[in-house]
Amino acid sequence: MDYETIAMSKDGPVGTITLNRPGALNALNEQMVKELISALDEFERDASLRCVIITGSERAFSAGADIKEMAGMTAVQMAMTGHFFPLWDRVGRFPKPIVGALSGFVLGGGLELAMSCDILVASETTQLGQPEIDIGVMPGGGGTQRLTRAVGKYKAMEMILTGKRIGAEEAKALGLVSRVVPKEAYLTEARKVASEVASRSPVAVRLAKMAVNKAFEMGLSDGIDFERELFYLLFASEDKSEGMAAFMEKRSPQFKGK
Ligand code: CAA
Repeated sequence: MDYETIAMSKDGPVGTITLNRPGALNALNEQMVKELISALDEFERDASLRCVIITGSERAFSAGADIKEMAGMTAVQMAMTGHFFPLWDRVGRFPKPIVGALSGFVLGGGLELAMSCDILVASETTQLGQPEIDIGVMPGGGGTQRLTRAVGKYKAMEMILTGKRIGAEEAKALGLVSRVVPKEAYLTEARKVASEVASRSPVAVRLAKMAVNKAFEMGLSDGIDFERELFYLLFASEDKSEGMAAFMEKRSPQFKGK
């Protein structure tokens, strides 16, 4: 498919979606959200694709929902169209791992999109925030829930109630990004991480992602039971036999996702 607000590329088992509205700092408008969902659908159908990177530009991953598009909308229009909220549901439930490659502004819906990814690599220039309060609203794409789970109540409250941005190093210290690298390296580093993940068993990766995400929804003992069922299930996979045989034969495993 031809897209206007995003670009899509593939390098072996790693696919990349690049947000591409530079004039609006990659603000998420309805078209971009539809295109992102469609790109994710394509990547999900592609059996050879094992890991996805979502990125923006060096200046902005995304400055959030498109304020100019939202400004004229009524409550009923927002609620009835769902506007772009299906995006976060789609990204959050995407079965293959997603690496977010962040740089520059990661704000509002942009941070909510990032928090729906699985591993976050940030350039040292990254600034993250939920500034919706500055325009008289509040996060609507999961920010109050995901940010609180990521950084705890007090920092989440500070960020959401003041709209204050934090830098990459602080975000790393809070556990809000996985790693921070120089700005020249964030995309290369994200590709490196994505390739590592893509070289592992796709079956084990998928179930492990599912189990980690359940930690946000289940109590501890139910979560551990859920984990154990998935663990037993993996013993039915060819990849488990291959992985353990390769270990004993002192060679690299060849995982097939079976
Ligand atoms: N929506 C629409 N356009 C945006 C935008 C947004 N979220 N963010 C930036 N832009 C546009 C600007 O309007 C400007 O366009 P023009 O040149 O046509 O005027 C262009 O991008 C460049 O922006 P600035 O000139 O403002 O650049 P700057 O470097 O001075 O400031 C910024 C950068 C601090 C990110 C500032 O643009 C800003 O504060 N943006 C808004 C951030 C925001 O409030 N995000 C939350 C949106 S609401 C939301 O996301 C709801 C939700 O939870 C789902």
